[in-house]
Amino acid sequence: MLEIAPSILSADFAYLGDAIHAVEPETSWIHVDVMDGHFVPNLTIGAPVVASLRRHTKSILDCHLMITDPWDYLPDFAKAGADSVSFHFEVGRTAELIQMAHDLGMKAGMAVNPDAEFEHYSQYIPHLDLLLIMSVFPGFPGQAFIPEVLKPLRRARELIDSSGAQTILEIDGGISTETIGSARRAGAELFVAGSAVFGKPDPAQAIIDLKETAVLAGREGD
Ligand code: DX5
Ligand code: ZN
Repeated sequence: MLEIAPSILSADFAYLGDAIHAVEPETSWIHVDVMDGHFVPNLTIGAPVVASLRRHTKSILDCHLMITDPWDYLPDFAKAGADSVSFHFEVGRTAELIQMAHDLGMKAGMAVNPDAEFEHYSQYIPHLDLLLIMSVFPGFPGQAFIPEVLKPLRRARELIDSSGAQTILEIDGGISTETIGSARRAGAELFVAGSAVFGKPDPAQAIIDLKETAVLAGREGD
């Protein structure tokens, strides 16, 4: 798989429906960054916005929950029509959250910060639909890609391939035409991009450019 998930955090919040329709010719994944002002020092949007978007799109609404207490909000996201929820490994209760997401009919994702130890979270990978490796510390768009995350990315790719798990390997933060190649070679298959898509005059073309760069980079071992 090779897909770009544009992050609407970098879109104009007054025109979210238009922003999504602008990228839909090139992707069926839309990344929704939910921040609570506690887990990260920023406040963004929540389940009511997902419910509004749901009425305007059939795309996959991939919700990244940068919140301290996701267990209190998963039912709201399910009701709003979220397709996937990625809660952070750092908040704990991971096994319970995976089960809860599945019971509510959503894909279960786990996000890990750039400084998370692979050995501490790897046990959960085969049980996940999505593993979201952060390549910036979460909170804000437009930050620089942290190349040290290529190592856990490679290890996650190896574990997924060797275990036969169906987990989608997603990377988030600082993805651009300069960085997507190294992330692709290390095994990422779903690339979140905020500024590199909605910061460009033609977001659909920006997705085409990102995908082409990733294809040209190839995959290690191919
Ligand atoms: C960071 C968010 C990311 C971010 C991506 O806290 O989780 O999804 O908005 O933005 P760029 O692609 O600009 O780094
Ligand atoms: Zn995100």
